[in-house]
Amino acid sequence: MDINNLVSQLTLEEKAGLCSGLDFWLTKAVERLNIPSVMLSDGPHGLRKQKSEGDHLGINESIEAVCFPAGCAVASSFDRDLIKSMGEALGDECQAEDVSVILGPAVNIKRSPLCGRNFEYFSEDPYLAAEMATNHIHGVQSKNVGTSLKHYLANNQEHRRMTASSEVDERTLREIYLAAFEGAVKNAKPWTVMCSYNKINGVYASENPYFLTEVLRNEWNFDGYVVSDWGAVNDRVEGLKAGLDLEMPGSRGINDSKIVKAVKEGTLDETILDTAVARILKKVFQYTDNKTTGTVFDKEKHHELAHKIESESLVLLKNDGVLPLNPVDSIAFIGSFADKPRYQGGGSSHINAFKTTSALEAVKAIAKVTYAPGYEVKKDTIDENLVLEAVKAAKASRIAVIFAGLPDAFESEGYDRTHMSLPDCQNYLIDRICEVQPNTVVVLHNGSPVEMPWINKVKGVIEAYLGGQAVGSAVVNALFGKINPSGKLAETFPLRLEDNPSYINFPGANDMVEYKEGVFVGYRYYDKKKMEVLFPFGFGLSYTTFSYSNLQLHTGKTINSDGDDNLITIRDTDTITVTVDITNTGAVSGKEIAQLYVSPQKDTVIRPVKELKGFAKIYLEPGETKTVSFTLNKRAFAYYNTVIKDWHVESGDYDILIGKSSRDIVCSKTLNIESTVRIPKKYTLNSTFGDLLADPRAKGVIEPLIAGYTLGLVGDSGNLDDVLGEGTEAMMAAMFQDMPLRAIVSFGNGAIKEEDILGILDMINSVN
Ligand code: BGC
Repeated sequence: MDINNLVSQLTLEEKAGLCSGLDFWLTKAVERLNIPSVMLSDGPHGLRKQKSEGDHLGINESIEAVCFPAGCAVASSFDRDLIKSMGEALGDECQAEDVSVILGPAVNIKRSPLCGRNFEYFSEDPYLAAEMATNHIHGVQSKNVGTSLKHYLANNQEHRRMTASSEVDERTLREIYLAAFEGAVKNAKPWTVMCSYNKINGVYASENPYFLTEVLRNEWNFDGYVVSDWGAVNDRVEGLKAGLDLEMPGSRGINDSKIVKAVKEGTLDETILDTAVARILKKVFQYTDNKTTGTVFDKEKHHELAHKIESESLVLLKNDGVLPLNPVDSIAFIGSFADKPRYQGGGSSHINAFKTTSALEAVKAIAKVTYAPGYEVKKDTIDENLVLEAVKAAKASRIAVIFAGLPDAFESEGYDRTHMSLPDCQNYLIDRICEVQPNTVVVLHNGSPVEMPWINKVKGVIEAYLGGQAVGSAVVNALFGKINPSGKLAETFPLRLEDNPSYINFPGANDMVEYKEGVFVGYRYYDKKKMEVLFPFGFGLSYTTFSYSNLQLHTGKTINSDGDDNLITIRDTDTITVTVDITNTGAVSGKEIAQLYVSPQKDTVIRPVKELKGFAKIYLEPGETKTVSFTLNKRAFAYYNTVIKDWHVESGDYDILIGKSSRDIVCSKTLNIESTVRIPKKYTLNSTFGDLLADPRAKGVIEPLIAGYTLGLVGDSGNLDDVLGEGTEAMMAAMFQDMPLRAIVSFGNGAIKEEDILGILDMINSVN
């Protein structure tokens, strides 16, 4: 298909029309040129295809489909293949339903536990988010269906999401917020990227040339089309110029006419319009030309897949020997969520699940349990009758399993949470049950962290997140040990909301939210502050145990292996492979998620203590050992340097840490890295002696200057301490460290002149 030729045959009006939707979900057709209309639908963890009245809030009916676990759950699997299989299933459903693009995955960083949409997002860590998104996209697009990586950019709250400006500094954007998108765009080439509603540093994401064109296209080579979030367009013509190709939904022709007018008046170059149309048509035809006709999907098979994905995503947060349960024990299931689980969030991702499996239903195949609802999901009021009934059931059993979590009204697209608590009636119920039942397990259904005031009273906790339509069977299998939980947290659970780094600046004020915590998001903050948390990033237990050994670094030849602790130096351009052996030291088979963090020992810039740069999930039989391997390149060690506008690795020592979680590092090796990049530095009269002494090029010139000055103070005999008193030497050294060059002119009694200093500066600067 010669797209450019096709574009050349379109009228101006037709071209403007193609840049906005026909309705809520369809692009426009141009019949005379055989340009078809194609559909886009939500996403991300199921297909929300609407046949009649469309909406972007999940209000009106959509077709029956399969609700897979939401992003919060599937990210906890840390399993690239697993999320890819979910993507493949979604791709098949789209093919069967003739949907050209499924709107997702969503990689926004979980800046605050309060963001109403955290359940759709993957992580507080950009590397993990990018890895999950990459594989989601690979899966969907392997079926010739497009994805829409969203919501680009810095859309980390729902509060005033359509008008607020996210104020974020350049380094933080690069290292945290852009990084999640960057990895997915570069690795997986999504067909489309969806720009977000908000502004970034004062400019709407939908008309931001820097992010839509310079970064996305020029730097990352994105070659699909950019679609607006539904209703995100502010100024259509500016948007087009900035790189926003498709406006969704349509504006009933209003914005199309603005485009036509701007071209006619000469304020919009028609070639910009042509480019946008070409980008959209390329993907429209990529879909229609490769359409697999007659694709049907087996709903039941996809239900089983949803079950499998949730089974691999469950996080066992606490187990004081109470789990797995024995089916012959007397067990009470308590809590309405046992009967009607909360398995997805509210808003545009809301799927019309063709069926759901509750724990109460699933447990029938394994054990006999008693059941008491304990609370009403929709009311946050204590119902003493329900509590009493539940207490009675718990008391009469040897074990109580309480199904708790957040009701729909507590978290949804469109608004943020105001606190991090479970409904009071549920916390109360848990307390009351614990009074009569020492063997209490809590199963949680929530899209984002909750405080657990009862954590020391219960013996077990399983975090099921919003686990999709098959959550009940996955949870029951984990409770009874039919599966071994293997998920780990993709986010930190702080002890209290106030501990979160964004607390003071969330959700901002006056239509502005300042990301003042900078790069210190999630564990990057809690680690730096050495704070206690409820559960750390990367944490999750298993019914078996794992041990790690034989950590090795390889650069072609093995280096720095056990017993050989000579520090090895590589250059920042080298790639390094890290291997470690993991053994299942317990009695049952299971999966372990090994995490690799990089920790700079010393830096002149302020950096997180450590950052996730690799992870691997492996299955091990009891007694079995396998080697996992990670590859690290320059980026794994780098921070974003705003002077050179590039990633930079400072020369120095870096620890490679292997952990079971971010707080359970089991082995480490140190590596020395030499930078091949010199950051140009221009010194001035206000540069300090300390800065100059730290620069090998300047040191040799500056030292004699200092020596000359001290000589002037003490004469040519003795040292400072002898002549001027004990401690003067140290005091002088400290003073010079922070003293600007200009000061020596006034302190030097006229012996050192400004011209001399300027001459020295010229000399040093000319070497740069
Ligand atoms: C959401 C998007 C969604 C779109 C279409 C918007 O409100 O932010 O994530 O894809 O609606 O439903």
